[in-house]
Amino acid sequence: MIKLHDKYFKPFISAEQIDMAIDTLVEEISTDLGDEVPVFVGILNGSFMLTSDFVKKYPKPCEVTFIKLASYEGLKSSEDIQRLIGLTQDLTGRTVIILEDIIDTGKTLAEVHRIFKNEKVKTLKIATLFYKPEAYKKDFKLHYVGIEIPNKFIVGYGLDYDNLGRDLPEVYQIKETQHMTNLVLFGPPGAGKGTQAEFLKEKYHLVHISTGDVFRYNIKNETALGMLAKSYMDKGDLVPDQVTIDMLNAEVEKNADANGFIFDGFPRTDAQAKALDELMDSKDSAISAMIALEVDDEVLVQRLLKRGETSGRADDADESIIRNRITEYYKKTAILKDYYSAQDKYFGVDGVGSIEEITERLSAVIDNL
Ligand code: IMP
Ligand code: MG
Repeated sequence: MIKLHDKYFKPFISAEQIDMAIDTLVEEISTDLGDEVPVFVGILNGSFMLTSDFVKKYPKPCEVTFIKLASYEGLKSSEDIQRLIGLTQDLTGRTVIILEDIIDTGKTLAEVHRIFKNEKVKTLKIATLFYKPEAYKKDFKLHYVGIEIPNKFIVGYGLDYDNLGRDLPEVYQIKETQHMTNLVLFGPPGAGKGTQAEFLKEKYHLVHISTGDVFRYNIKNETALGMLAKSYMDKGDLVPDQVTIDMLNAEVEKNADANGFIFDGFPRTDAQAKALDELMDSKDSAISAMIALEVDDEVLVQRLLKRGETSGRADDADESIIRNRITEYYKKTAILKDYYSAQDKYFGVDGVGSIEEITERLSAVIDNL
């Protein structure tokens, strides 16, 4: 992923794919033109890289020239095309091939046709490396098209976002969702995970997704997914990961413009962690970090026993039950610790201290992501 100005872009078309597309264009055009000496006209600025690579590959003699037009402002094609440098040579009787980096709405192409209207060229043909069929609003014929792409903003290989990105040898596509901070939060029983989740949610404007709450909500409201989950639970079976993922997907979609999410209670297994990665990837996003509160077992046992004295929770009153829960926790998280460590996304945070101190340590991790 790369960032240009305020926007994030993801890898979209590799340098190799571009190279292959240019090979094909060269092949098609040189076959059609035979021994004719064409004039290739690159449309600046965007097509400088294409023009250079294209003519280097062109197997026969040819001429190269440029015209310079400007239309795009930021992410949008603007109404009026400025003619910055027009034709500087007489092209009467010549075979002219326009080399465009990209054809989007076709407004620039319309201007090219206006420029050539009074030129007595022999033939005028249009070649473009990239073409966005869904955006194209004109009916000029496109004689040679390298790669058709969806109607999303791209940068690289000559194309810019407010002047940045032209130098990149490959092409990147704008990310649908901009940068999010997505945390997987862990903590053994008694570590204060709930308190800290509340705080993180406030400070970073994140949406807290507790799998337990999501299940209860879906079942209580008898959503299709809730009923499906319940049908497994009623039989005493585990709810398949896909059902849980579908529920989480619904939560993520409900909060599409969130700054990010705190996942709590999920994933629990390697397979679930992979499924969550895929879910975030489908949203053009990713898990930023797994944060685990670390508290010494003895401290946890004492905290929980103390809580048990006042809370009346049976599982907080019995020391062996408490120790079991802690052991269970470490067994489960070990797998995930390995999974996220392998991606350099595991962060253990010392969970002993005052609430503010722990909060401070968590913020330090998040601010560094
Ligand atoms: P059109 O006039 O709408 O067809 O747009 C053509 C011109 O807009 C191109 O020559 C580019 O300079 C620019 N453009 C169109 N789409 C993109 C894009 O996705 N990224 C960067 N520039 C673009
Ligand atoms: Mg252009």
